Amino acid sequence: MKLEVRYRDAVVGVLNDDIGQMLFQYDDRFLRLGTELSPFYLPLQSGVIELKGPFEGGLPGLFADSLPDYWGRAIMDRRLREAGIDPARVSVLKRLALVGDGGLGALGYHPAESEDAYEIGSLKAAVDFSRQVLEIAGEKLPGSKIIQQAGSNPGGRYPKLCVGWNPAEKRLAIGSQSLPEEFIPCLLKLDLGEAMPQGKAEVCRQEAALLDQARAAGIRTPRHWLLEGKDDEGHSYAHLLIERFDRREGTRIHMHSFSGVAHKLPVRYGASYEELLRVVSALTRDHREVEGMFRRMVFNILCGNRDDHVRNHAFLMEAPNQWQLSPAYDLTPTPELKEHALGVNGKWSGIAKSDLAQVGKLFSIKNADEIIDQCASVC
Ligand SMILES: Nc1ncnc2c1ncn2[C@@H]1O[C@H](COP(=O)(O)OP(=O)(O)O)[C@@H](O)[C@H]1O
Ligand SMILES: [Mg+2]
Repeated sequence: MKLEVRYRDAVVGVLNDDIGQMLFQYDDRFLRLGTELSPFYLPLQSGVIELKGPFEGGLPGLFADSLPDYWGRAIMDRRLREAGIDPARVSVLKRLALVGDGGLGALGYHPAESEDAYEIGSLKAAVDFSRQVLEIAGEKLPGSKIIQQAGSNPGGRYPKLCVGWNPAEKRLAIGSQSLPEEFIPCLLKLDLGEAMPQGKAEVCRQEAALLDQARAAGIRTPRHWLLEGKDDEGHSYAHLLIERFDRREGTRIHMHSFSGVAHKLPVRYGASYEELLRVVSALTRDHREVEGMFRRMVFNILCGNRDDHVRNHAFLMEAPNQWQLSPAYDLTPTPELKEHALGVNGKWSGIAKSDLAQVGKLFSIKNADEIIDQCASVC
């Protein structure tokens, strides 16, 4: 199978697994543009590249970042089974074709097997769809093709859909591609009560609260709205809408996770904040961004967000070769986890303020003590 990779309107190159090896070749015109989409592990180079990345199918992080994980994958696998295809035998290129132009970030895969459509939907339709995905295994997938696609593109573990949100009219448009102008592109993280993975019924409310605390601690966070109410059976719910930062005025923004850009797998003791800070420094070449990441590290440690793994940190490239940290996301208190996913000063648990200060010193953060005090005051 051959897949053309596009970055907005430009052809980046072609992925090809026809001879049983994963190959990629940059397009000559893209090489001349000089835009590095993944400077460390897939730098611009001419000729055919044999890919031996650590991700599924040998993909490098640039393309692996486009694939859904737990939640989206569960939906994608059911879409495949319904089409009579065994998900276990499907190639990663077929999966990327299913993502097509509907993925997060700015990359598209062609010929795309995604639809550029949306439907004005109700919260109830979104909840019913997600509930059935979680509760009914192996049956026919509920919902329209559009809602299925809106659910299968985003990553992460919890139920969510790509939507547009019209705050003035409080209306939802469900879809992952072009939305009408008055709708803000958002991720809708759904509260399904007891049906939530790991029984985390309060996770949306907790995430909204932690986003507010993070903002108070000087951390950049996306706009968000908590949709609260009662369902037909009288159970109260709180869904979380988060503005997408990989979209700006109809333009797709390139997004690369720490995992993807630095080829870090989500494994225990697999990465540290020091490594992340080094990547921030190398990619952004901006000490303010290093300080911003230090602040997030301090916040995550002091507020107990231990689910701070390699896919929960990302970078955006809005202008060619100009990188910055994405706003912070997936901030949730996780007391059930014993260790942080990223280490600090050689520790994954029992991290003290002195460890944070030590990292501050290593990265020449002048106001490290002030940042620690500020985060401590909101946590
Ligand atoms: N505001 C956002 N804009 C764009 N992409 C986002 C945003 N928030 C999260 N993402 C992307 O969606 C993925 C899943 O979201 P996340 O909040 O991490 O969900 P989960 O709690 O299920 O892990 C993230 O890994 C990130 O790639
Ligand atoms: Mg996540």
